[in-house]
Amino acid sequence: MQTDLPNLLTTALAQLDYGQQPATLYDPIRYIMSLGGKRLRPLLTLLGGQLFTDDLGPLVKPALATEVFHNFTLVHDDLMDQAPLRRGQPTVHERWNPSTAILSGDVMLVRAYELLFENVPVAVLPQVLRRFSQTAAEVCEGQQWDMNFETETAVTIPQYLDMIRLKTAVLLGFALELGAVLAGASADDAEHLRQFGTDIGLAFQLRDDLLDVYGDAATFGKRVGGDIISDKKTYLLLTAQAQANAAQQVALGQHIGQPVADAEAKVQAVRTIYDELQIRPQTEALINQYFEDALHHLGRISVLAARKEPLRHLALQLLERES
Ligand code: IPE
Ligand code: IPE
Ligand code: MG
Ligand code: MG
Ligand code: MG
Repeated sequence: MQTDLPNLLTTALAQLDYGQQPATLYDPIRYIMSLGGKRLRPLLTLLGGQLFTDDLGPLVKPALATEVFHNFTLVHDDLMDQAPLRRGQPTVHERWNPSTAILSGDVMLVRAYELLFENVPVAVLPQVLRRFSQTAAEVCEGQQWDMNFETETAVTIPQYLDMIRLKTAVLLGFALELGAVLAGASADDAEHLRQFGTDIGLAFQLRDDLLDVYGDAATFGKRVGGDIISDKKTYLLLTAQAQANAAQQVALGQHIGQPVADAEAKVQAVRTIYDELQIRPQTEALINQYFEDALHHLGRISVLAARKEPLRHLALQLLERES
């Protein structure tokens, strides 16, 4: 099955039945799932599996679990981040209300579990559910650190990196590991693939933080500047705080951790300091480092290099993504 995998995933996702009544519970799920997105996580499961097998059919439904889970985290994340836009459209809590975002999100988590336990072979089901549960709890841990850090003033870069590893990278790692396990890979290969995913995930979140400042809202599909407005302790901000001169420290201090009178003025002021300190190229350098780390793990997997090409290519695309 060397077909167009994104297309295959789109078709399979469109066929999922989340439930019918009450419509106020299930409509928001159909809404968020229909808005598209990159479908990165299930694609990673399929490409991870493709290293070891040509028969990807049995991997498709389990792969969808990662996408449903991811969308559940987005619905809740947007509520927590008070984000107005997702994939260029109003977020669920904006279009409906916060209670809807909570409960529709909850049932999405349940549906993600169902997709796994109804479609993963019993021989590996306990292992898959254990790893999935661990990953899901880690995502919540990362999300809580992310929220805690908004009001903390002494966050370190290692703390930030651990936070993004939890909230974002472990799920990319799990998605790849899932593909390996379902395709019968050795434990060693599955582990290197997971670590490849974690490193790509760190690069991916750094890129997301960069786009949150420098992206084009129309392409990015999210409100640009949102992280600055809510005092997110991103690599960009922490690096700027560490490198700022006295005047820049004062300027940052006037905006970070202060009540926001004019959101656009705050974003503009902080972005100006980022520009002065060349935060953007510094962030890109770190992204490239994680990409190199990721490639190291890909290289350790015991299949022919040609089979790894699609994954390497996807990782490269993610480094330069604009959406
Ligand atoms: C957004 O994930 C949340 C992050 C982990 C940065 P994606 O950038 O994969 O979002 P979609 O699914 O493509 O919309
Ligand atoms: C994403 O972090 C992490 C999860 C959704 C678990 P962000 O808050 O940066 O994601 P976006 O930018 O809203 O997509
Ligand atoms: Mg968010
Ligand atoms: Mg968030
Ligand atoms: Mg973000």
